[in-house]
Amino acid sequence: MAAAVVIAIDGPAASGKGTLARRIAHERGYAWLDTGLLYRAAGMIAADTGANPADPVAAAEAARTLAQRVAAEGPSALDDPRLRGDLAADAASKLSVVPAARAALARVAAGVRAQSNVPRSSRGRRRSGWPDIGTVICPDADVKLFVVASAEERARRRVKELQGRGQAAIYAAVLED
Ligand code: C5P
Repeated sequence: MAAAVVIAIDGPAASGKGTLARRIAHERGYAWLDTGLLYRAAGMIAADTGANPADPVAAAEAARTLAQRVAAEGPSALDDPRLRGDLAADAASKLSVVPAARAALARVAAGVRAQSNVPRSSRGRRRSGWPDIGTVICPDADVKLFVVASAEERARRRVKELQGRGQAAIYAAVLED
């Protein structure tokens, strides 16, 4: 059996990480894991209970709850359309600065990888000081990609994505954001 190939993909918001990961996965027959979804799901668990996702105790608890759900339900634990929305992005961003939550989610990601016997690709967004796709989740990645695009191109992509979900989006506001 051929050895698994791990490709870690990082980069700023809306730069094309997901598109690239999906295309590589499709073309090569690889599985792929969107680690951002883990942060979004844990953030929403905290937000749904009325807690502040930036609170260290609430964030760590939410990450542990997500770990239990993923262990029990598998990928369907991440099957919530709300996770693609701004609320989830905001909650994820707040939760992601809590080291205990990051550690718990890195274990979830490692568990998801370990459960599969097919090669996986993975993606995630680099936040200053947290380049953990290539170092914590996939330290053994055979290939590490950092995707970049201009702010204008990223805003254009984000507007298209939002409109595709039926949400109104104004290019100038998205670019400013
Ligand atoms: O990539 P996505 O927009 O889904 O990520 C949501 C948030 O989760 C990011 O803004 C970041 O704060 C956090 N995140 C992270 N590390 C990852 C993936 C996501 O800190 N590997």
